[in-house]
Amino acid sequence: MPLFWLLLAASFFPLRSDCSCRDGCELALASYYVTDKQNATYIASLFEIPFGDIDNSFRPYNPDFSKDSIQMNSRISIPFQCDCINGEFLGRSFPYTTVVGDTYERIASEHYHNLTTVELLTQTNVYEVTQIPNNVKVNATVACYCGDADISRDYGLFVTYPLRPGDTLESVAREVGFSDLDMLRRYNPGANFSAGQGILYVPRNDTNGSFRPLKRYKFFNSGLSPGAIAGISVAVVASLFICLLMWIYYRVKKRKRGILLSSTAGDNFHANGVGPVSSSDEIYQHPKVEMRSSFSGIQMDKSVEFSYEELASATNDFNMSNKIGEGGFGAVYYAEIRGEKAAIKKMAMQATKEFLAELNVLTHVHHLNLVRLIGYCTDGSLFLVYEYIENGNLSQHLRGSSGKGPLSWSVRTKIGLDSARGLEYIHEHTVPLYIHRDIKSANILIDEKLRAKVADFGLTKFTKPGDASLQSKVVGTFGYMSPEYARYGEVSPKVDVYAFGVVLYELISAKPAIVKTSESGTESRGLVDLFEDVFSQPDPKSDLPRLIDPRLGSDYSLDSVYQMAQLARICTHEEAQRRPDMREVVVALMTLSSSTGGWDVGALVGNPALLNLMSGR
Ligand SMILES: Nc1ncnc2c1ncn2[C@@H]1O[C@H](COP(=O)(O)OP(=O)(O)O)[C@@H](O)[C@H]1O
Ligand SMILES: *[C@@H]1O[C@H](CO)[C@@H](O)[C@H](O)[C@H]1NC(C)=O
Ligand SMILES: *[C@@H]1O[C@H](CO)[C@@H](O)[C@H](O)[C@H]1NC(C)=O
Ligand SMILES: *[C@@H]1O[C@H](CO)[C@@H](O)[C@H](O)[C@H]1NC(C)=O
Ligand SMILES: *[C@@H]1O[C@H](CO)[C@@H](O)[C@H](O)[C@H]1NC(C)=O
Ligand SMILES: *[C@@H]1O[C@H](CO)[C@@H](O)[C@H](O)[C@H]1NC(C)=O
Ligand SMILES: *[C@@H]1O[C@H](CO)[C@@H](O)[C@H](O)[C@H]1NC(C)=O
Ligand SMILES: [Mg+2]
Repeated sequence: MPLFWLLLAASFFPLRSDCSCRDGCELALASYYVTDKQNATYIASLFEIPFGDIDNSFRPYNPDFSKDSIQMNSRISIPFQCDCINGEFLGRSFPYTTVVGDTYERIASEHYHNLTTVELLTQTNVYEVTQIPNNVKVNATVACYCGDADISRDYGLFVTYPLRPGDTLESVAREVGFSDLDMLRRYNPGANFSAGQGILYVPRNDTNGSFRPLKRYKFFNSGLSPGAIAGISVAVVASLFICLLMWIYYRVKKRKRGILLSSTAGDNFHANGVGPVSSSDEIYQHPKVEMRSSFSGIQMDKSVEFSYEELASATNDFNMSNKIGEGGFGAVYYAEIRGEKAAIKKMAMQATKEFLAELNVLTHVHHLNLVRLIGYCTDGSLFLVYEYIENGNLSQHLRGSSGKGPLSWSVRTKIGLDSARGLEYIHEHTVPLYIHRDIKSANILIDEKLRAKVADFGLTKFTKPGDASLQSKVVGTFGYMSPEYARYGEVSPKVDVYAFGVVLYELISAKPAIVKTSESGTESRGLVDLFEDVFSQPDPKSDLPRLIDPRLGSDYSLDSVYQMAQLARICTHEEAQRRPDMREVVVALMTLSSSTGGWDVGALVGNPALLNLMSGR
């Protein structure tokens, strides 16, 4: 019964959840930077503004606008309605008809001038990045923002502002006419205003010159009469009151009976610290694309902090039966906490202040192919709370331990692609950027749908606190360390590319990164060496099968396996500069996995992207 009331209340006052939106707003602005190639007609067409409407649409927010003499190298503000797309992020999808040579990258940067991103386009379109047909309509999804009652109720109209080289915090503020620099930073936490790229959200004055305040909760301005609103408010308050009474009543009763409540919905509701009153505020989230880049540790977010009691009760006091793993950093326990399955890592270390700041950033990094950090606890020692990934790690799957069956070749290529995407994301799209430094099959987790997620990023640089030098202490795992890293401690993203190459070799051979070559186990060789032997043969392709995982049977095309081996080979090149970027690796694996999943194996041979990559050697 209290549950019912809670649910009722929750449906009036939705709980805040990361990475989601409930509602959009009727107006947002896109700041389009005009270069010499665009005229007003073209720009209007990008945003679905009919030819006859151009003046009416543009004038109010661009007083100097003239259709015929549109100013080059200036920005114009384009009004549009901001939607909540799939309940996940704020944006607006404009239909864009592709022309020959269009890629998501071109659509984002050359047509929409970085108001959208490859990431957003990939998320909102069915076409794979490599296979966008010509002359079809795609969703050009422009990012937008509606405000946040937690930051300020004074601002409800925002410009989506793609940064350009030369921009600074001050120049952006001047350009948009918003002078509160602190507020601007709060709306874009962690953003580097001088980075020359990335999307900002900046409050802007409305046509009457003043700032549009944050829209109230929609419920209250939906055209209902004041009487109706008053009536509903009374009803809501009354039901909350009843709900509270019932809840207290049940709690007392259960206590009396000595029943230990574990984790009921009522507790969750409370534990989140989201009281019904504060959650009635309208809460908007930045779209996904932005989440990753714009958070810093400056704002400490209480919702990601857990108490020791909470963790202990979620793991039966860190009971052995809840233990699911033991790793370099400490033991890992299974838990159900705040209604979510979690893996809690008990770290054999204390958190420094910098580490805590870093953890706050990490809790905001979201990507399908990264294991999400839900939060942490610093009572006593340091605990990290991760989303629980159902199906073990890649190493277990490949070695056939804990009853995990063999993976088919097409699943292996998808796992390779998934992990490459996760790694590309931390190399290129987060602020700050991360180098993983401990990529290995044990750090690639597999979920129930056999999708792969990279675990443990962002931690390695803190394993030796106090070491601030560039050439930091080597952490990593033997067999995966690149020569320059193992020898000189030189750290670059290419360290991860090397380790990733070793993982690709593992996918092919199911052998560990270091292979025992003698019966007694005294002699060992690296997997990289074993494959190099094959490549030094006169006909490597026909020699390759001796290293292919026998459990694959005949379920693979030799061409495809050979391509992956070649990709692994350039990833593990001696010289770091000769190794590809993760972005290039993703493209190569995309080609490989789309041909593996389908019927088009022949098409891969002579694929320009892959060939370019191969010719690096
Ligand atoms: N989020 C998670 N979900 C499920 N299992 C996990 C999770 N994190 C870690 N594990 C399991 O616990 C093991 C140990 O984890 P970890 O401490 O990262 O050690 P390492 O990566 O050094 O092996 C992992 O290999 C994995 O099997
Ligand atoms: C605007 O530019 C498009 C091509 O981008 C061109 O086809 C069109 O004729 C131009 N219109 C005017 C009015 O210049
Ligand atoms: C969009 O971003 C790309 C990459 O940062 C840059 O090369 C390009 O010039 C940008 N386009 C505009 C119009 O700012
Ligand atoms: C565009 O988005 C709509 C709605 O989400 C979807 O149905 C449609 O398939 C998308 N178009 C493409 C080309 O993916
Ligand atoms: C911001 O970006 C600029 C240009 O890429 C770089 O020089 C600067 O160090 C960055 N600042 C921070 C704080 O990351
Ligand atoms: C300006 O318009 C907004 C609505 O867009 C309104 O809330 C505000 O009161 C107006 N301000 C003035 C000074 O007219
Ligand atoms: C809104 O702000 C801009 C930039 O400061 C300013 O130029 C413009 O006059 C303002 N609009 C109105 C209607 O006051
Ligand atoms: Mg790990």
